[in-house]
Amino acid sequence: MEIIMAMYNDIVMKHFTDPQNVGEIENPDGIGTYGSPVCGDMMQITIKVENDVITDAKFKTFGCGSAIASSSVATDMIIGKTIDDALEISNKQIINELGGLPPVKIHCSVLADHAIKAAIYDYAQKHNKTYAGLEGFDPNAEEDDHHDIGDE
Ligand code: FES
Repeated sequence: MEIIMAMYNDIVMKHFTDPQNVGEIENPDGIGTYGSPVCGDMMQITIKVENDVITDAKFKTFGCGSAIASSSVATDMIIGKTIDDALEISNKQIINELGGLPPVKIHCSVLADHAIKAAIYDYAQKHNKTYAGLEGFDPNAEEDDHHDIGDE
């Protein structure tokens, strides 16, 4: 535990040890899963949507502490947001919200970013909707091409 604590700041540790929105929504309006091409870890996000606003979000993460902390803040960030606003959230914003992640853990925040987009993509498909923020997004894409870092 001491090594972990030396690596992570207090905000990350708080979301890691006491994560928000853990679990799975029953009968979700959208469900997204994403597996990291970097480490193979997986994340699932389920969302409830009413009038284009995300009213609830939950996650299950089969991954490291940074992935758990990232999904905890990311679900907090999207609840209450319109879909368009939720789609604007980048992994860089997730990192900033966490007060930073160690460089080797940047890809863990991408997991949350992609899983959210995958859940919204699923919602859009099921409800015949299109969103500008989903343009070019492929939930099955293997490549991991946006490793934004948090402190630019
Ligand atoms: S090491 Fe895989 S998500 Fe963090």
